[in-house]
This record gives sequence, structure tokens and C-alpha cells, in this order.
Amino acid sequence: MKYVAYEKRERVAIISLSRPEKLNALNREVLADLRKALEEAERDPEVRAVVITGTGKSFCAGADITEFTRGSADIGRFIELGREVFEFIENMSKPVIAAVNGYALGGGFELALSCDFVVASSNAAFGSTEINLGITPGWGATQKLAAIAGLAKAREIVMLGEVFSAEEALKLGIVHKVVQPERLMDEAIALATKLCQKSPVALSIAKLVINRSVRAILAPGLELERSMFYVAVSSEEAREGVSAFLEKRKPKWQS
Ligand code: COA
Repeated sequence: MKYVAYEKRERVAIISLSRPEKLNALNREVLADLRKALEEAERDPEVRAVVITGTGKSFCAGADITEFTRGSADIGRFIELGREVFEFIENMSKPVIAAVNGYALGGGFELALSCDFVVASSNAAFGSTEINLGITPGWGATQKLAAIAGLAKAREIVMLGEVFSAEEALKLGIVHKVVQPERLMDEAIALATKLCQKSPVALSIAKLVINRSVRAILAPGLELERSMFYVAVSSEEAREGVSAFLEKRKPKWQS
């Protein structure tokens, strides 16, 4: 796998996004490699828990924005690929921990929200920043944030698109624990190891019950979010927002 490193430490699989030059932004190749690594972890009977992290100074800076310069059919395939990967995490029989270093923005934030636990380094930075590109979240943030942090905070995070700290994420219930950057992997692996000591059957049932029931509640909103994402991404303003990012300038909204 070119964009993901896979390592086993005793019963814990460690999956590291490895595209540091682009802050681990998710393009279709990264998503395909992430999927392969997750499938390997799910298949391997020795693996009892999974940690996902990012190589370099970022967990994941979101969907690769260049994906949104393609035609609508390609964008659709890309969004579906991401949705399938995130749902795979939620449907795995093993607990998945996001170890968040640096940026977790847009789709990177949504990747963390798909995991069962989030451990963050004190220098982590979270945000649903899509609005700054003239688009909206498409992989679950609007619905999951409302469920976790309440409607008022979901509105603030999604509609202002500001980046917020690990401490703030902890207060909102998005993050389980904030640790010093040099302790991040040790703490994530210690949590994974604790989970490995539980009954795997009971653990997988607990995960299934929590995730399936939450999904049943959120399903209509998730579908609406996805269909409205396509409306947003095909707008003139999205074209301007995406071009502005790639040209390293501020967007000029027309309307
Ligand atoms: N998609 C594609 N490329 C991305 C990216 C993304 N989501 N996030 C970062 N990159 C690229 C940058 O274009 C840059 O590439 P370059 O060196 O070829 O110019 C490289 O990663 C490093 O990023 P840079 O912006 O130079 O780092 P920074 O430390 O100045 O800023 C961020 C970091 C995260 C604040 C900034 O990169 C950013 O705002 N990224 C977009 C985040 C976002 O909106 N994500 C949601 C997407 S839907």
C-alpha cells in the first residue's frame, strides 16, 4: 500500500495515513489503501483493536480538494468510496481508535467521528471547514455533531467552519482524552490494549448495538446531507471556493 502503513503490535493493528506532503488529504488512492488496511485488520483473528493515525504533522486535512475539480460522476464515485470506508469502520467487529495528531479537518474530522474512540494530542485541531470552500460536509459531520455536541454547537461548527482545539473537542464530547503530543501513540495503544482484554464477542456486540441504533436514528439526515452535498458541490460558489483554495487566495462569493 502506497498511502497507508500497516503495523501490528501484539493484538493492535496500527494504520497510519501516509501522504504527509498533502497533510494526509484523502484522495481515491488513499481511501482505497485505507479500505485494504481496514479489511486486513478485520480479517486477522490476532487483531482485537485498531488505531488509525496520520504520518507527519497532520491526522488528515480532509477530502483532497482536487477531487472536487472533476466531473459530477467522478465526484459521486469519490464520495461513495469515502462513505463506504467510513461505514466499514463503523461496521467492523473490532473497536477503532482515532489517534489525532495535528489537523483533523473536513473529511479528516469525519474519519475521526467514524471511529469508536478519539484520543487527541494537545496540538490537534478539529473543524468542519467545508463551508470555507463553498461546500458542505458529505460524510456525516452535520448529523453526528448534532447527536454528539447538540444542535447549537453543530450549527456553529458547520456554519462558521472554524478550527477548534483538542480541549474544546474534549468539552464537546467529541474527544475522549487529550494527551501531550509525544504520548499520543502510547495512550492510544494503551486504550486499545485495555479493549483487547475484554471479551471480543461482547465488545463486538456492544459496538454493533451502539452503532446500528445510532445509524438508524441518523439515517434520514445522513441521506439528506449526502444529496445536498451534491447540490452544493455542483454550484458556481463551490467552483470558486475550490479554485480559490488551489490558487491560494480568498474566495469571492458572487451571490
Ligand atoms: N486537499 C488537497 N490538498 C491539501 C488539503 C486538502 N484537503 N489540505 C492541505 N493540502 C495541501 C496543500 O495544498 C499543500 O500542498 P502544496 O504544498 O502542494 O501547496 C500541502 O497540503 C500543505 O498544506 P498547506 O496549506 O501548505 O499547510 P498549512 O500548514 O499552511 O495549512 C491547513 C494547513 C490544513 C490549514 C490548510 O492546508 C487547509 O486549510 N487545508 C484544507 C482543509 C480543508 O478545508 N479540508 C476540508 C476539505 S473538504
